[in-house]
Amino acid sequence: MLIDIITIFPGMFSALEESIVRRAVLEGHVQISVTDLRDHATGKHRSVDDYPYGGGPGMVMQPEPFFLAVERLREVDATVGKVILLCPQGEKFTQRKAEELSRTERLILLCGHYEGVDERVREKLVDEEVSIGDFVLTGGEIAAMALTDAVVRLLPGVLPEQSVEDESFATGLLEYPQYTRPPEFRGMGVPDVLISGNHKLIREWRREQSLLRTLYRRPDLLSGADLSDKEKQMLKDAALRHGMTLEL
Ligand code: ADE
Repeated sequence: MLIDIITIFPGMFSALEESIVRRAVLEGHVQISVTDLRDHATGKHRSVDDYPYGGGPGMVMQPEPFFLAVERLREVDATVGKVILLCPQGEKFTQRKAEELSRTERLILLCGHYEGVDERVREKLVDEEVSIGDFVLTGGEIAAMALTDAVVRLLPGVLPEQSVEDESFATGLLEYPQYTRPPEFRGMGVPDVLISGNHKLIREWRREQSLLRTLYRRPDLLSGADLSDKEKQMLKDAALRHGMTLEL
């Protein structure tokens, strides 16, 4: 996979030179390359923004540097892929979206700034707009890094398959509680079932914990989860005990 990032703050992306993303790059699962948008500014001050037509506060990012940057990247590597603009108005980023993007050969990520990006970038250059949540960051860089991190860890071979299959959201549910040594810490123990060695019971306990945790913290996820009739009944009973209303 190839991920190109276009930004006015290339230095911020050193965060991707650590941890699992770093290893994924070194092992050749992904190539990440960062382009300074200012390298494609045509004015003598290398500016990439200007006042908004019609007035109003702040500055707007100009279309030409983005168009030139994307055109140049496509000359260097013709793989088309998807152009994604990170901005608060975009589609909300989810694990499902991360999975979809991890199957794309190439991503070109545009980091928006200031009051926004000239609409013609959205109309002609961008395939999708993505937001990482209902809050406003100072720019698209941290969002681009979050997206990159979530996508890269899903690429085949980057993580052991089991750890990706079990984790929160992959099953449509939140993950069950985890414990490690010591068996007793400051008076707090570990559930007996986990030390029982009975793998069937452990699987059942984990599934139930996953379901209950999702019910209490993110009941909105349950409608999209694959639940047996028995599990639905168990959840309805638990919801009733907690005075929650639950439609399944
Ligand atoms: N730029 C500013 N805020 C953002 C957000 N929430 N998601 C993506 N890009 C952004």
